Amino acid sequence: MSTHEHTRRAWEDASQKHVREYAEHLELARTARLLPIEEQLLGPLLRGAEVLHPQSGHGLDDHALVRLGARSVLGIDYSPTAAEAAQRRADELAVPCRYQVAELPRTDLPSGMTDLVYTGKGALIWIEDLAAWAEEMHRLLCPGGHLFVYEAHPLVPLWAWDADEARVREDRSYFAAGHINDTFPASGAAEHQRTLAELVMTVQGAGFELLHLAEHPDPFWQPDGEAPAAAWDGRLPNALSLLARRR
Ligand SMILES: C[S@@+](CC[C@H](N)C(=O)[O-])C[C@H]1O[C@@H](n2cnc3c(N)ncnc32)[C@H](O)[C@@H]1O
Repeated sequence: MSTHEHTRRAWEDASQKHVREYAEHLELARTARLLPIEEQLLGPLLRGAEVLHPQSGHGLDDHALVRLGARSVLGIDYSPTAAEAAQRRADELAVPCRYQVAELPRTDLPSGMTDLVYTGKGALIWIEDLAAWAEEMHRLLCPGGHLFVYEAHPLVPLWAWDADEARVREDRSYFAAGHINDTFPASGAAEHQRTLAELVMTVQGAGFELLHLAEHPDPFWQPDGEAPAAAWDGRLPNALSLLARRR
């Protein structure tokens, strides 16, 4: 089996969580909010906007996007299990979100079909050809449309999750092309790495103008029931936010 196929299957297995935890997700969706920095940046852009959410996963953020004013959200994910669970929840709550099963970086969606691409929180690391992905997002956005990413900081793969002291893992490099994920949710899947500079240059190279880039100390996700890692004590970057406009 190719590494790519292994990763896809790992995600299909991991997405069973969305079915097992359907009832909890349904309750979370009723009150889901974006992070404060996301609300601050996206609030003015979301009123009446058609949003595309590549690698939408559980799709809880889609409910928050609608609550902030999005007219509709289209989620794309290659896991049928993830897409079906998200669609069932959106239908049950009568929220204007639709989900399609498709494999990025390319889609057969029409050009210029969206006002805002919203993604992240564990999305970009699964894309091998980030330049092709960024070009596709550029194609799908209307002129002047926005790309927003809230993602793990590229340094995160280097942090050990020790609770006593922040340490750099000896088996990782900031400049590596990737590594195999050894934690939940998609254990065994191939993560693609790129440096902060590579991410920014790739987005700009696809035809976007960078409007905002910030690094944040808190991780976007913490495993349930585990002691917080010392690497999350506020001294190190754990997440980034990026907003760019299609030229
Ligand atoms: C961490 S999850 C979802 C992130 C999402 N923002 C969330 O909060 O749930 C990553 C998702 O990306 C999907 N995915 C990974 N690679 C993909 C690809 N090449 N095409 C489409 N979906 C992909 C997986 O199936 C998974 O649902």
